Amino acid sequence: MIALAAEAATMRAVVCHMPARPGELHAEDVPRPAVADDALLVRVRASSANPVDLFHLSTVAYVMRGFKPTGAGADFAGIVEEVGPSVKEFRAGDEVFGAARGAFAEYLTVAESAGVVAKPAAVSFADAGTLAVAGSTALQAMRDHGRIQPGHHVLVNGASGGVGTFAVQIAKALGGKVTAVCSTRNVDLVRSIGADVVVDYTKEDFAGRGERYDLIVDVAGSHSLSECVGLLTEGGVFVGVGASAIQHGKGGTFGALAHLARVRIASSSDVKIFVAKLRKEDLSFLGELVASGRVRPVIERTYGLEEAPLALERISEGHLQGKLAVAIG
Ligand SMILES: NC(=O)c1ccc[n+]([C@@H]2O[C@H](COP(=O)([O-])OP(=O)(O)OC[C@H]3O[C@@H](n4cnc5c(N)ncnc54)[C@H](OP(=O)(O)O)[C@@H]3O)[C@@H](O)[C@H]2O)c1
Repeated sequence: MIALAAEAATMRAVVCHMPARPGELHAEDVPRPAVADDALLVRVRASSANPVDLFHLSTVAYVMRGFKPTGAGADFAGIVEEVGPSVKEFRAGDEVFGAARGAFAEYLTVAESAGVVAKPAAVSFADAGTLAVAGSTALQAMRDHGRIQPGHHVLVNGASGGVGTFAVQIAKALGGKVTAVCSTRNVDLVRSIGADVVVDYTKEDFAGRGERYDLIVDVAGSHSLSECVGLLTEGGVFVGVGASAIQHGKGGTFGALAHLARVRIASSSDVKIFVAKLRKEDLSFLGELVASGRVRPVIERTYGLEEAPLALERISEGHLQGKLAVAIG
């Protein structure tokens, strides 16, 4: 009995003890987290990797969290195992999804008030596990910062990755007409998720097409801000999300940060830049979009928990086709 109890109190998890490269991480046996009064213990069934997960492996993040270890991964979908005494909204057995640090693990804890909502029955754990970070980013870019309206002509630059594949589908779900920019190997994929026009950036420059856009959502950062603003209609909005083309090209991380800083400095009523927030209402809306079939998460590859560091390694290479999922338990 004692041996069984001790066994049940541990779990497999990918933990970042010190600043590390993705390839230096591995799954290990760690104590299962205790559930606080206002929190849920979730048995994780699925997760996915995001570029922000790499930040949490960095020296800057290590210093910011007071030289403490942290669990890798954030997006999760799973089943509530146990709830703290003051939890009202959830109970053991509920299927949930959201984001909380330490999702590359068999169990995680998340405060009831934080980024966790009920998973619609029609949405698989695998799909729900891709939604929180990239889906919230795409939704907030289109709806909150881009103020998309039905009939708007929207350009998504960097349409084939984690954020871009959600951005294209959310723009369509909200009534936009979408021009999507990606490389040759992703043209069919981006068309299959609903883009009205696909521009292959290896063959054609979207800035030279003579088109005007009500909204530009820029994930890639491949063009200067002034070039992009020059393509906006009267009252149009540019929303800077990221700079993948610079980060994974000649500019590297510093070049990408410099580009985003220039956008930040130019922020105005028609130039926006933002850091996505986790909101319960957005997570629920994303769940409904997937349950109703209006959004279909695109998954490049699914890794097991023991291979989760490989998903982070793949993220660091860029040029993803949708999301990288992690299947757990
Ligand atoms: N603001 C926020 O809160 C927030 C939240 C999440 C992510 N981000 C940032 O957003 C960026 C993208 O994240 P993600 O998860 O979508 O990354 P990702 O999955 O790696 O996607 C990047 C996309 O950019 C495309 N791309 C690369 N070079 C391009 C070029 N020259 N022209 C057009 N497209 C190009 C890639 O397409 P090809 O493979 O076809 O080249 C790929 O589809 C990252 O910089 C990330 O840090 C910001």
